[in-house]
Amino acid sequence: MKKLLVANWKMNKTQKEVADFFLEFKKSFSEKRDAWIAPQTLHLEMALSLTKSHVKIGAQNCSEFLNGAYTGEISPASLKDLGGHFVILGHSERRQYFSETSKGLNAKVRSAISQNLKVIYCVGETLTEREAGQTLSLIEDQLHQGLNDMSIANTENLIIAYEPVWAIGTGKTATPAQAQEVHAHIRQVLHHKFPAFGKMLRILYGGSVKTDNVEELLGQKDIDGGLVGGASLKAKDFLALCGDK
Ligand code: 13P
Repeated sequence: MKKLLVANWKMNKTQKEVADFFLEFKKSFSEKRDAWIAPQTLHLEMALSLTKSHVKIGAQNCSEFLNGAYTGEISPASLKDLGGHFVILGHSERRQYFSETSKGLNAKVRSAISQNLKVIYCVGETLTEREAGQTLSLIEDQLHQGLNDMSIANTENLIIAYEPVWAIGTGKTATPAQAQEVHAHIRQVLHHKFPAFGKMLRILYGGSVKTDNVEELLGQKDIDGGLVGGASLKAKDFLALCGDK
């Protein structure tokens, strides 16, 4: 399977910046690696109209409910209807600032998968948790709770992103060996949970992925791609991460 680079633009960019990005990106993107982009919800429709179909567009969050009286929420059914391909769920910023928990996220994951959206489910430890030696058990809990009581129909339904909280937006990256250790553990848990497909699910690394560390990270056995914040905002940088200099 090709390596997958996912751009998480978070709450950034004007409409003009979105348009400029795609203009530049499309000129040089060669599909050596898969590229998916998650703009702000307000820019989803625009991004969908500007990309060729081989760049997949998705959202950064969605509701556990499909439709109804839930003011301000993002319907996974409408996201699919719009042409959205995937949704990122459980990002550490949502856990930290919007009180999302792995248990609560389970309903969102299942709802999105029921709509045939691909789910990128994020897990990761804080620095305090790492220093207390809790990384692997904490991540195991996040996986068990967030992916509780569900099945997947193929290897495409679900992607896991390992994002150590202490590496997000800080310029500190997990060493390739630190990331590989956690990724190998995640793969074991997934194999156990989903015997038919678990071993083949993609596991992305996120946290200060940049042009100067991406190759070494992607060179690790269990790292299938990256979930990228800051370095995905400029077309030139994201192209380089996608292997198109
Ligand atoms: P940075 O690449 O800016 O560290 O952000 C990572 C991230 O949170 C991607 O979801």
